[in-house]
Amino acid sequence: MKVEKVPVAVLVSGRGTNLQALIDACDQPDYPARIVKVISNVPDVAALDRAAAAGIPTVVVSHKHRSRDDFERALVAELEGVSWVALAGFMRLLTNTFLSAFPGRVLNIHPSLLPAFPGTHAVAQALSAGVTQAGCTVHFVDAGLDSGPILCQGSCAVHEDDNEDRLAERILKLEHALYPMALRWAVEGRVFVEGGVARAVIREGEKRWWVETD
Ligand code: GRF
Repeated sequence: MKVEKVPVAVLVSGRGTNLQALIDACDQPDYPARIVKVISNVPDVAALDRAAAAGIPTVVVSHKHRSRDDFERALVAELEGVSWVALAGFMRLLTNTFLSAFPGRVLNIHPSLLPAFPGTHAVAQALSAGVTQAGCTVHFVDAGLDSGPILCQGSCAVHEDDNEDRLAERILKLEHALYPMALRWAVEGRVFVEGGVARAVIREGEKRWWVETD
């Protein structure tokens, strides 16, 4: 059966491994999304190379030397015809100037079990706090810092000998599994926010809470 592929844009700022996971998922004939554009606010990043290698149109919209409003209006202008936006390592906060163009249709992935450790250096924050479980979160984006309704999470144990790199690598593996799954739910119209809480209509074999056991 041929699936209708929903047009999605991905916003990036860096190396783009989550973008790659989404590209790989979208390459599957039965995956219900296609990435129609990748926007980076930073030039010359690996994520742009990944998009180009996959034949996806790219554009750099710099945040420098302009107001936040102007920057966000420029982003919106690039996104005509896009149904959902996935932030994947996009290092700018968004305000309603952007978000009102995609109400309830912007997702982000963050390398912590939100609401713990929002913001930058989430993995280092988790290690410094001495937590025994770490992980990642896919959430709806609101105007706060990693504060929107939580859609799904994956957790892994923190090992005695973990450092930031080792733990970040295990979390990243979870990210690459979770984000394509969450985006699938989104474009299939199976997620919504009710009273500030995200809900998902999940099918047999799917789960909103993944646990990595090693
Ligand atoms: C990931 O850890 C993601 O959770 C966070 O930024 C990092 C981006 O990595 N928002 P990559 O660019 O997808 O490799």
